[in-house]
Amino acid sequence: MTFSIRTKLTFWYTSLLAISLILFGLSFFYALSKIYMNRIDREISSVAGLMVHTIVEPPGRLRLPRNFDIILERFFGLRIRGNYIQVLTPDGRVAGRSSTLEGLELPLTEKAYRRALNGKRTYEIVRTFGVYPVRILTLPVVVKETGLVAIIQVATSLEGMEEIFHYMIYFFSFGIVLSIIIAGGVGWFLAGKALKPVDEMTRIARKITAENLNERLPIVKPDDELGRLASTFNDMIARLERSFRQIKQFTADASHELKTPLTIMKGEVEVALKSRADEAELREVLTSILEEIDRMNEVIKGLLTLARTDVEEETTKQPVSFDHIVEERCEQFRKLVHNRGLRLDVKIKKGVTVLVDPVRMGQVVYNLVDNAIKYTPKGGTIRVSLDTQDGWAVLRVSDTGVGIPEDEVAYIFDRFYRVDKARTGGSGVGLGLSICKEIINTCGGKIEVESTVGKGTTFTTHLPLADNSMKEVN
Ligand SMILES: Nc1ncnc2c1ncn2[C@@H]1O[C@H](COP(=O)(O)OP(=O)(O)O)[C@@H](O)[C@H]1O
Ligand SMILES: [Mg+2]
Repeated sequence: MTFSIRTKLTFWYTSLLAISLILFGLSFFYALSKIYMNRIDREISSVAGLMVHTIVEPPGRLRLPRNFDIILERFFGLRIRGNYIQVLTPDGRVAGRSSTLEGLELPLTEKAYRRALNGKRTYEIVRTFGVYPVRILTLPVVVKETGLVAIIQVATSLEGMEEIFHYMIYFFSFGIVLSIIIAGGVGWFLAGKALKPVDEMTRIARKITAENLNERLPIVKPDDELGRLASTFNDMIARLERSFRQIKQFTADASHELKTPLTIMKGEVEVALKSRADEAELREVLTSILEEIDRMNEVIKGLLTLARTDVEEETTKQPVSFDHIVEERCEQFRKLVHNRGLRLDVKIKKGVTVLVDPVRMGQVVYNLVDNAIKYTPKGGTIRVSLDTQDGWAVLRVSDTGVGIPEDEVAYIFDRFYRVDKARTGGSGVGLGLSICKEIINTCGGKIEVESTVGKGTTFTTHLPLADNSMKEVN
């Protein structure tokens, strides 16, 4: 069985209050009874002291007064009812008593008698005398010459105290129960009020789906716990919204990129079917279709690479020698560069080890050099350099090509983004750089670009060196 936070809060709060009130009440009663008893003991002790002087005459003879009430009156005024004096002989027989006893006998307990025989006084509460308990002092009267001559008992009824305590217990119990009820009600109300924003948040959060991710939780007090919770929620929803939007955009772009070549192919085939084309014309159509198929192939390959990089957060990283990879890739391009009338200038530092997936890193180098060649006109130079700096492997690929307009630099890493679709004449689908960025990100590196239109472009890639990342782990 689970209870709501509100119920639990109220329960704990009222229980604590009840416990502290009860503890307070108990200690209050304890202290009060102690004080009261002390006062009574002092009184009966004084009466007993006076009695000793009254009944013992030197040299140690006992002389009982005719009326004990006078002694009581000297202490208690006219209200002597409930106060008693009784004198016993050493063997425990009654020798005299105050009229307030009305012929009854104050009880002498075994214990008090034994102590009296030993010359010790005893205070005790006896409940067998009358309706109310009495406080009795039993005091032995010992004279030097003759020893124990009498036992004096002075007693006071605890009637008044019983009565006061009785009423007070009533009063306290009632007060405690009433305070608990009131505090419980107020606590329930306050807890409800404090937790209301949580209900409100739950209600709104329940309504948020993929369709209305633009909704946000209301933040009443941004600095309290619930305000912080709400803004954390809102941040999370914002992130979800962003990635949903990216996915939507990506799906739309991908479909478009795949649909365009299909449309072109369909159109060409239809025209060819309708016209009476000769073999040469048909060949041309087929060549064009082949180009479109290649293009679709490129797009699908790129999409697959991206999808895989997205899924595998941790790729199969291993320490590989980066200089080998770069070297190998540059060699691949030598012939193409030469055919295009370009120069390739490679400067590689040896023994640069990074923690990467070698196949994917090869793809990064390939894409960067491929772009440089693609966007550099005849006679230009492409420079590739690999160096180390502050624990990073730094790969630079620069060209003296067309450059990228300043306002487009920010988008070139986006999927399917291409500065000028016409310029490249169909080769490339705009996925190369976004693939590079994804791969480099999963390796803990970064890629930056610097470009001037008409002058050239430089891509700089930073990757953590393998021994450096080992050091960081330790
Ligand atoms: N070295 C470069 N010089 C000039 N423009 C570049 C260079 N590299 C990339 N770009 C621009 O960035 C865009 C995106 O590059 P990329 O993702 O590799 O796509 P693709 O090469 O398929 O066009 C390119 O279309 C091009 O406009
Ligand atoms: Mg490219």
